[in-house]
Amino acid sequence: MTASRVDLTVRVGPLRLQNPILLASGTCGYVYELAAAVPVQRLGGVIPKTVTLQPRAGNPPPRTVETACGLLNSIGLDNDGIDHFLDHHLPRLSTLGVPLIVNVAGKAPEEFARLCERIDRVADVVAAIELNLSCPNVAGGIDFAVRPELTEGVLRRCRAATGLPLIAKLTPNVTDIAAIGQAAEQGGATAISAINTVLGMAVDWRRRRPRLGAGLGGLSGPAIKPIALRCVWQLCRAVSCPVIGIGGIQSIDDVMEFLVAGATAVQIGTATFYDPACAVRLVDQLPGAVAELGATSVRDIVGSLRFRQ
Ligand SMILES: Cc1cc2nc3c(=O)[nH]c(=O)nc-3n(C[C@H](O)[C@H](O)[C@H](O)COP(=O)(O)O)c2cc1C
Repeated sequence: MTASRVDLTVRVGPLRLQNPILLASGTCGYVYELAAAVPVQRLGGVIPKTVTLQPRAGNPPPRTVETACGLLNSIGLDNDGIDHFLDHHLPRLSTLGVPLIVNVAGKAPEEFARLCERIDRVADVVAAIELNLSCPNVAGGIDFAVRPELTEGVLRRCRAATGLPLIAKLTPNVTDIAAIGQAAEQGGATAISAINTVLGMAVDWRRRRPRLGAGLGGLSGPAIKPIALRCVWQLCRAVSCPVIGIGGIQSIDDVMEFLVAGATAVQIGTATFYDPACAVRLVDQLPGAVAELGATSVRDIVGSLRFRQ
């Protein structure tokens, strides 16, 4: 099979993406900063930083620490709120020529629903909404995706608030991610994305203090890829909606591992910080890797892992 004839398109519910490579929330700013240097319109989609109802100042510094093969962060959902997003960021984002997935987080199910209602009013320029059910960095916030009934409740409220596709973003910091995925699907999720960061800590023993201002943070980057792959595989066996893989993806081999394990699409996160063109390069490399498996379409290799348990 020649790489030039490989069909890269994938479907996430009603959404048809030109390829399965997306940029992950919180790691690409509001995208247009990156668009000055990287042809983001070549990607399957982009997901700007989480938006909340009210502006949030975020956590005290330091907010990031490098670890072995990873990055620990405790940004704390620093953002200017939905009004500012709609007035200032959305007009610029909507001219980029790439499907826009808006990521939102709320402190209660009603807040998630109100955010969805606001975005529904600009549905002509938004491809989907990703629900950040899982940020470990918000003091006093509820980690909805650690309990199936809370996850389902948020999804139900949001489903009633918008006709846009809903992507439930899950945390790996649970005992049984498959049960959370089933609850999200039951509540009306169009797709599931996994994983958000893995709860971690770094210590400066000489100062006898945590390295992050907030104490704990979320681990991302290559260090978490095996955890993410495991979660995606478990989710794919438990739900019938599409699963989007996230976690430590930086090479075409990483992309292929997630697709074969069952992911319909993938998001590139931390890699963009040290290699801004990474995601676009992966789009270029994907046809060759798919052809290597003798397939003519990305869709043919999704979930093709030869393993049963
Ligand atoms: C600095 C930083 C900020 C992040 N901010 C958000 C965010 O605002 N919303 C969100 O849903 N995920 C956020 N994430 C999580 C990423 O989208 C992604 O799920 C996670 O980093 C795992 O992917 P990676 O290993 O490729 O980075 C953030 C990650 C990092 C490293």
